[in-house]
Amino acid sequence: MNRRDFLLSVGLGYLALPYAVLAEEPGLNQRAQSRGLSFGYAINSFQLVDKIFAEAVIRDAGIIVAENEMKWRETQKKDGPPNYATADRIVNFARQHQMGVRGHTIIWHRKPPAWAEAALSGPDGKKLLLDYTHNIVSHFRGQIKEWDVVNEAVDLGSRTPNGLRNWGPYLENGYDFIADCFRAAHEADPDAMLFYNDFGIEYKRQSAKRDAVLKLLTRLKNQDVPIHCLGIQSHLIAGTDFDERLFRNFLKEVADMGIKIRLTELEVDDKNLDADIALRDAGVADTARQYLNVAFDEPAVIGLLTWGVSDRTMRNVALWQTRADRLAPRRLPLDENFQKKPLWHAIAECFDNARSR
Ligand code: G3I
Repeated sequence: MNRRDFLLSVGLGYLALPYAVLAEEPGLNQRAQSRGLSFGYAINSFQLVDKIFAEAVIRDAGIIVAENEMKWRETQKKDGPPNYATADRIVNFARQHQMGVRGHTIIWHRKPPAWAEAALSGPDGKKLLLDYTHNIVSHFRGQIKEWDVVNEAVDLGSRTPNGLRNWGPYLENGYDFIADCFRAAHEADPDAMLFYNDFGIEYKRQSAKRDAVLKLLTRLKNQDVPIHCLGIQSHLIAGTDFDERLFRNFLKEVADMGIKIRLTELEVDDKNLDADIALRDAGVADTARQYLNVAFDEPAVIGLLTWGVSDRTMRNVALWQTRADRLAPRRLPLDENFQKKPLWHAIAECFDNARSR
């Protein structure tokens, strides 16, 4: 019998762990779970072949979400049977490591595949979307514990009476279409937690959008629609007008409807911060700390995911290049070498200080 098996046989298996693991402080999800919360990362299946990436996800995440691989344009590029192969890889990784999976996202104005765009504004548009909803939720039934059923349906710039986005299915059917999407998802998997997910509702100047989101949620709840959770994307900007009292009150208004809340896509834009890395990292961490301390104080908040793992994944991606000096963004918990940044420690600290659920 080797040393490891002997130690395991006498209940001292932990001594068999490699030193690096023994020395590792608890990961973020362990910290979260001690308060009845959860933590996770947005990932892509191709990133999992990178050992250091996978190890960071295994250390920190209790739930993962596909950054892109479960979006309609990725799963059904052509008019034909959907291809869930890459999405299945994420689900299989999660199962292998006892993690949950978030499904992101079913109905989103930005992601119908080109072949479906034309059909959507036709007489069969609504049926096409509801069939897609039923098919993808059915495919992952029992494997995905929560779905962003509808993403970013509120858009004040569309200047519609109810604040819904100027997108065919929302215009013809308004709230009723959104209600039908949730009903279709619930019918496909009655055990899945169903989310409305949106951005631009975190800051003081965004009160009008918060009100439009509350109006949508109220309408759905009053119609007994199976909506269980609000996803607040939490794409924060360091140095912006965050009003703790306003945000706290918003969270409570959502909670008072019997709707849970998850922070679904946290990352912190450092465009307003100094070029110096230490100052930028500190500013990003302080921004997240102030936000998370308010959020985690609301009992209806169930957890947090960040929209990526390491700054390496945002390098050279135009979407995240917001700094005037063109320096690489430092928005995520781990740096480009997967080392913990002040943001990682700020998230850990906010979990440690959170009220227990
Ligand atoms: O897969 C194609 C590839 O085949 C092609 O060669 C390449 C060049 O055109 O594009 C690739 O698709 C890109 C995809 O990311 C995968 O990398 C799309 O063009 C690009 O638009 C897409 O961007 C994603 C964006 O959502 C739109 O889907 C971002 O990575 C992703 O971080 C972002 O995430 C969104 C959430 O889903 C919703 N909340 C906001 C958040 C940030 O915008």
